[in-house]
Amino acid sequence: MPNDVTDKLQNYMNTMWNDYIQINPQAHKIHSLFVQAGENVINDHIALRTFNHPKLGIKSLAQHFIKYGYKECGEYYFTEKKLYAKHYEHEDKSLPKIFISELELEKVSPFIRETISGVVEQIKPEVIAHENFVFSGKHWVTSHTTYLKLAAESEYASWVYAYGFRPNHFTVSINALKNFRDITRLNDFIKLNNFKLNAAGGEIKGTPAELLEQSSTMAAEIQVQFGDGVYPIPGCYYEFAKRYPMTNGQLYQGFIAKSADKIFESTNKA
Ligand code: NI
Repeated sequence: MPNDVTDKLQNYMNTMWNDYIQINPQAHKIHSLFVQAGENVINDHIALRTFNHPKLGIKSLAQHFIKYGYKECGEYYFTEKKLYAKHYEHEDKSLPKIFISELELEKVSPFIRETISGVVEQIKPEVIAHENFVFSGKHWVTSHTTYLKLAAESEYASWVYAYGFRPNHFTVSINALKNFRDITRLNDFIKLNNFKLNAAGGEIKGTPAELLEQSSTMAAEIQVQFGDGVYPIPGCYYEFAKRYPMTNGQLYQGFIAKSADKIFESTNKA
C-alpha cells in the first residue's frame, strides 16, 4: 500500500478510536494499564452495528473500508438475535479486521421495523456516502420511552437507536501482548483493576480447539441525552481475543458465531 494511503487509513482508525473512548472511558483506562505494563496494544478487530434497511446495511459501512483495500472474508448468522454479520480483512495483517453486523428488519416486530425505518429515512444519502459516516453517531431525535420499548425486544436495536453509527467495540489482540498471553491471566488483571467482565456463557468464549478465545468487559453505563431527558444506558465495551494456529501454521482469522452471540450481550443492562 502506498504510504499516503497507509497514513490516511491510520488516521481513520485513530479517529474511530477517539470517538469510541468518548463513550467508553473504561477502554481508555484499560489501554493505559497495558501501556504502563510495557505492552504494545494492537487491535484484533473493530466491530460496527447497523440495520439491513435498503439505505444502510453492512455494505453502507463496509464500502469505506473496501476503498482502503479491505476484503470480505467471512459471514455469520445469529438466528435468535436476528443478526447477520460479515468480517473484512486487510492484506496488511497489522491492521484490525472489521466486523460488521446488521439487524434483520424483516424478522423483527412491526414496532421495531417501523421505528427504525422512521429514523433511517432522516439520513441523507450523501451522509452515508462520506467515510465519516462510520463514526457519525445518530441522525435523529431519540426518546427514552422508545429506547426502552426497543430494548425489551432487541437490545441491539436499542443500542443503535441510542448511539447511531460508531464503533461498538475495539478488541485487544492477546497474541501481540508479551505478558498476558494467557486469557485467564488477562481476565484476572482486568478484574483486579475493578472492571466487570461479561460472564454470559462463561468469561472465556471459545476454546483453543475452536482456534479463538475471547472475553470482554461489560459496557459501563453512561449518561445519554434523549429528546425526553438524560438517562444512563450501557455504552461500549472492550474485547480481548486470542487466536490459535490452523494446521497450516497460520493464525485463524475468522469468528465463532456461538461465541460472538454471547459477546453481543456485553451491551446488555447489567
Ligand atoms: Ni468482537
